Amino acid sequence: MRRMFVAGNWKMNTTRQAGIDLAKGLVAAVGPGELGVDVAVCPPFLYLDAVKASVAGSAVTVGAQNCYFEKSGAFTGEVAPGMLVDIGCNWVILGHSERRAILGETDAVIAKKTAAALAAGLKVILCVGEQLSERQANQTEAVLDTQMAGSLAGISADQMGTVVIAYEPVWAIGTGVTASNEQAQAAHAYLRGWLASHYNPQVAQATRILYGGSVKGSNAQGLLGQADVDGALVGGASLKVEDFAPIIQAARETRK
Ligand code: PGA
Repeated sequence: MRRMFVAGNWKMNTTRQAGIDLAKGLVAAVGPGELGVDVAVCPPFLYLDAVKASVAGSAVTVGAQNCYFEKSGAFTGEVAPGMLVDIGCNWVILGHSERRAILGETDAVIAKKTAAALAAGLKVILCVGEQLSERQANQTEAVLDTQMAGSLAGISADQMGTVVIAYEPVWAIGTGVTASNEQAQAAHAYLRGWLASHYNPQVAQATRILYGGSVKGSNAQGLLGQADVDGALVGGASLKVEDFAPIIQAARETRK
């Protein structure tokens, strides 16, 4: 059985104080103790420390939105995976479509980051997903093949134990247009099949595949109810407690 996982990607939003308030508000909303699902918030690097302190003692964990692939050295402006571990960061999002499209990250770079993050002890949320033109050209599966093979190059079946895949169709991110439950399920089933054939059936069964792209309280139940959808990577709706908490609640109520 795969444990549901809801992660909030704050992107380049909040101030230090707003981030602290959001994290504390979330902890208050979900309540103390075991949640039955995994929850993470991923603030900007600068606020990780403060947000980590704000969720201390709760089941909410903390993730970064990126990292570099080197351990240390002359890499001006970059953040090493070990630095994230050092401040108690649990997760790192890698390969987000905004980094692929705006920052020019290739699958090869993402693979190096994935390997470095896992070696440092971080758990990875690896994002894949097609653009609208690719879906319209029936290339969704080919794009997912390329991104999965490229971004996971060199990652072993054992290492997959701390990798979560996030399927995020680019056309659904921040647009208010969500993939239908059926579209999400079809892509997730395809990704699980990819894991079975490129790793093994055990890895495919154990690996969590999150859906991302305009997830909100009103559509979370339908998406999370799909057989191969194991949680959500949430952008816009993770910036307000009243929007994010219902998505966590939907995950808690989903029985698989
Ligand atoms: P969104 O973003 O929920 O605002 O569409 C999701 C993401 O980019 O991870």
